[in-house]
Amino acid sequence: METETEKLNAAKKAITHIENGMVVGLGSGSTSSLMIMLLGELVADGLQINGVASSLKSEQLASKLGIPLLPLNQTTTIDINIDGADEFTEELQLIKGGGGALLREKILAHYSDLNIIITDSSKKSERLGGYPLPLEVIPFAEQKIIKELKDMGLASNLRMEEGKVYRTDQENSILDLDVSNWDDIEALENLLQAMPGIVETGLFLNSTDLVIMGMGNQTFEFKK
Ligand code: A5P
Repeated sequence: METETEKLNAAKKAITHIENGMVVGLGSGSTSSLMIMLLGELVADGLQINGVASSLKSEQLASKLGIPLLPLNQTTTIDINIDGADEFTEELQLIKGGGGALLREKILAHYSDLNIIITDSSKKSERLGGYPLPLEVIPFAEQKIIKELKDMGLASNLRMEEGKVYRTDQENSILDLDVSNWDDIEALENLLQAMPGIVETGLFLNSTDLVIMGMGNQTFEFKK
């Protein structure tokens, strides 16, 4: 219950940055869903914005609430992108992808002018790695990648859902990687990005401008 309040308070604070006429990136996950619901109320009250969704789930929710949506390719700019995170540090580095939407989320973060992350207080960490790192991988190579990662000392699990291999919106698989013993996170990102078959990682190391974290009944901000 307290976590829900923290998420909601962070979402409420984040939407105060949205102005008439903006193009808004819509993140994925439970915190982003709260933000999309609040945005739906503002749109119903006359706010004129266009959203760009980071997942089919967020797209469906936004459509249901009457938020006008644009495909990314039809936007000239995304003024503001609001998304959640699974783990963040005060250096504004994140692990994302617990909900499997990391690829589109990372693309939206890249093309957005302002990136705001909204979280509850459980997501704050001294160093990344407390949360398993999601990797979006091509199913064709998933077992090869698992083996290669193992040889590098990195244990990973193929994500499952209801007894079946989980599939992303792009029909790829997700490997959840234990990076708790890995010190140099930038080096790890470079290494993973260089492996064929890994489409994207859930490491968001340089894209965030502001984290708004709900804690109890307050919100705290971490910025560049
Ligand atoms: C979705 O793929 C993720 O990156 C989410 O942004 C992240 O998992 C946060 O989700 P919650 O807001 O549900 O904690």
